Amino acid sequence: MTQVFFDYTRQDAQGVSCTANAWATVPEPLTGEKRLGAKARAKALLEQHDAVLVAHYYVDGDLQDLALETGGCVADSLEMARFGREHASQTLVVAGVKFMGETAKILSPQKRVLMPDLDATCSLDLGCPADEFSAFCDAHPTRSVVVYANTSAAVKARADWMVTSSCALSIVSHLKEQGQQILWAPDRHLGRYIEQQTGADMLMWNAACIVHDEFKGLELELLKRQHPQAQVLVHPESPESVVALADVVGSTTTMLKAVVEGRANTYIVATDNGLFHRMRQLAPGKTLIEAPTAGNAATCKSCAHCPWMAMNSLLGLITCLEQGGGEIFVGEPTRTRALVCIERMLDFVARNPSRVAPSTQGFVPSIGAV
Ligand code: 13P
Ligand code: SF4
Repeated sequence: MTQVFFDYTRQDAQGVSCTANAWATVPEPLTGEKRLGAKARAKALLEQHDAVLVAHYYVDGDLQDLALETGGCVADSLEMARFGREHASQTLVVAGVKFMGETAKILSPQKRVLMPDLDATCSLDLGCPADEFSAFCDAHPTRSVVVYANTSAAVKARADWMVTSSCALSIVSHLKEQGQQILWAPDRHLGRYIEQQTGADMLMWNAACIVHDEFKGLELELLKRQHPQAQVLVHPESPESVVALADVVGSTTTMLKAVVEGRANTYIVATDNGLFHRMRQLAPGKTLIEAPTAGNAATCKSCAHCPWMAMNSLLGLITCLEQGGGEIFVGEPTRTRALVCIERMLDFVARNPSRVAPSTQGFVPSIGAV
């Protein structure tokens, strides 16, 4: 196990920002026989418990492969929510970070939702404590409250809308068309990007993703000069100087689709490098380059891999299924209140498939499965 510590930004209800600390305990990767044995055991346990594995693109490649080999999915946070809700299995194992498990439980309270490690969190979730956020909402009662999926159930319980990076632009555009002013939380970079794209009036919370916040515009520009034919793909949680250099800005699924369907041979990718596993499988002939975080010599602490996503392991999955640990619970009335903003998003997406990028019709079978 490796214990790593991180600084993250957060603000209080008055809008004052500060830096706080968090930690992650990352297991050593398995190799050889141990790895093969663990994979076989995990597969048998999923079957024995009639459980389905719902994995994010950033988790360990073995977990992604296991999900696809056993009828689960590998997806972005929007598709994970939909897949978990619609799947018949009564046990969902969510390999990702805590807000993803909570969203699954909020949508399917009758199902058992397990996670390989309940301490796998997210700097955006940590950076937006529910009590401070609630006071911020109270201070701006006329604004529609739009929160990113990367928040706790208690924060969602205060929101009118939840959005993910796949549908944030279209939902905020829709609210702007209705003349609504927005209170946005928690990611300042994604919020700024949406504000610039839509022209909506947005009051921002000030938090950031510790992984995407580390990508550097200047270094990316230098890298682009070395690879003038490369397409630059950027997740919108990245800083403005990085987004400004992008050919494609979008969710993890949008970026994967851009590599699979794009004409270029080389791609510079500004997101967690866990996504490279699926990109390599689906676009084996293409060259993928990690966008620069300025390396260990600078302020980089994340090096393009989320420490909390890295807490998910085969052994953690085995333990949660064998011992029934790692179960997610969301108490009432928080669950029922949080459900409102999630269902509003899912209804909007279902009614406006062409406004959500990329088209999600049939997307899991073509991209999310082997
Ligand atoms: P996606 O919804 O694009 O998968 O993003 C989730 C996330 O946590 C990105 O850092
Ligand atoms: Fe949160 Fe960033 Fe990790 Fe995504 S990559 S889960 S936004 S800390």
